[in-house]
This record gives sequence, structure tokens and C-alpha cells, in this order.
Amino acid sequence: MSVLDLTPDQVLATTRAVRRRLDFSRPVERNLIEECLRLAQQAPSGGNRQGWHFVVVTDAAKRRALGDLYRRSWNLYLDDPGYVGKLIFDDEERNAVQKRTATSAQYLADHMYEAPVLVIPCIQQSRAGLSAANQSGLLGSVIQAAWSFCLAARVRGLGTCWTTLHLRYEEEAAAILGIPFRDIVQVAMIPLAYTQGTEFSPAPRDPLESIVHWNAW
Ligand SMILES: Cc1cc2nc3c(=O)[nH]c(=O)nc-3n(C[C@H](O)[C@H](O)[C@H](O)COP(=O)(O)O)c2cc1C
Repeated sequence: MSVLDLTPDQVLATTRAVRRRLDFSRPVERNLIEECLRLAQQAPSGGNRQGWHFVVVTDAAKRRALGDLYRRSWNLYLDDPGYVGKLIFDDEERNAVQKRTATSAQYLADHMYEAPVLVIPCIQQSRAGLSAANQSGLLGSVIQAAWSFCLAARVRGLGTCWTTLHLRYEEEAAAILGIPFRDIVQVAMIPLAYTQGTEFSPAPRDPLESIVHWNAW
């Protein structure tokens, strides 16, 4: 296994949402994906239940079908008040970042099916018993593992982008992949590919003081 020469802090600071720099022409070896998944399994889960599942999609026809779902949802999202390309900030630099993100996300919507691998992290939970109060426990029991997967991928020269738009059509995605919809909740769809170049930079973020509350809000 060859890994990039990055410190742990560099990995944490440079695991970006990669879209335009995903290399669609290069397959990803199965053993690398399995290494990342084994590391993901080291994440915490509520009650140590380890109810996570990862559907790894390499089949071209299935990727195309999922890409179509994603694109359909993206087209609706363009009119959503939460659309990433809405320039709602007072800060021009922030708006410029949002604009770039929107262009990049449009690219991914157009090309999702071309990613050599699509990974869908899921969690075992009967939909009938899905109370609002349990959402954090439920999602926290898979999202941390899935993010570990993304970090492990970055270390191996692979890029990922956390996406959720396909969830508008989660049941259709379940049918494409044979996921038992009543008992298995999908939380994301993560394209995985080698990156074009391996240099990524920390992204601008809000000042720490604006989000940290010591001892009281
Ligand atoms: C819960 C969640 C949902 C997201 N959904 C999408 C999505 O559907 N499509 C997409 O292109 N990016 C999606 N993203 C990626 C964000 O746009 C990205 O994390 C953000 O722009 C910061 O990117 P950066 O870390 O590269 O700066 C999502 C991220 C999160 C955490």
C-alpha cells in the first residue's frame, strides 16, 4: 500500500469535496477500497452496534442509473432556497467561494455516473421506528465511519465528495441496488476516484470565535 506523505493534521485540513479533479479514466483497485472500509469500521457507533453497511457500486449500468437520479434531484435543487449557488452572504469572498462550489457541483451532477466507484453508506434501522429524537444516534452511527472512509481515501491519493441529493429518490436507488428499503437507511452517495494531482489546500472557514462558545452560548 502506498500512501501520501501527509501529517494527520494535513489529512484533516485537506480532505476536500473533490469534483472537477476526480479522474474518471482510472479504475480504483478493490483492495484499496477495502482498506478504506476496514479503517471506516474503526469508527464509533452507538452501543457499538456497528449497524453500518457500505454499498460499493462499480457496475457501469448501475452507476448510470444512480447518476440519472442524482441529476434529476440536482435539477430540482437549482430552485431550492438552500441552493449552494445563492449568493446570500455580505462577504464578497464568501460569495465567490459559493459560486465556485456551485459550478463544481454542477460539474459533478453532469458527470456523477462517470466516477469509477460510487459508495453509499447505509445504516440498519426500521423506518417504522425512526423517531426524530433518535436521528442523531442513528446518523452518528454511520456518518463518522463514512467520513473516516473519505480520510483514508485521501491518504491513498483518492478523492471523494459527500453528496446527499440522490436521497430525494432514495427508494428508487434502493430498488436499483437491491437495498431493503424498509430496514436500511441511506445517508450519502460518495463518488470515489483517483484525484488529478494530490495537492489540496485548507479551505477558508469562518473565524473560530464566531462558532465557539466557552461555557455558555
Ligand atoms: C450533509 C452534506 C451534504 C452534501 N451534499 C452535497 C451534494 O448533494 N452535492 C455536492 O456536490 N456536494 C455536497 N456536499 C459537499 C459540500 O458542498 C462541501 O462539503 C462544502 O462545499 C465544503 O467543501 P470543501 O470542504 O471542499 O471546502 C455535502 C456536504 C455535506 C456535509
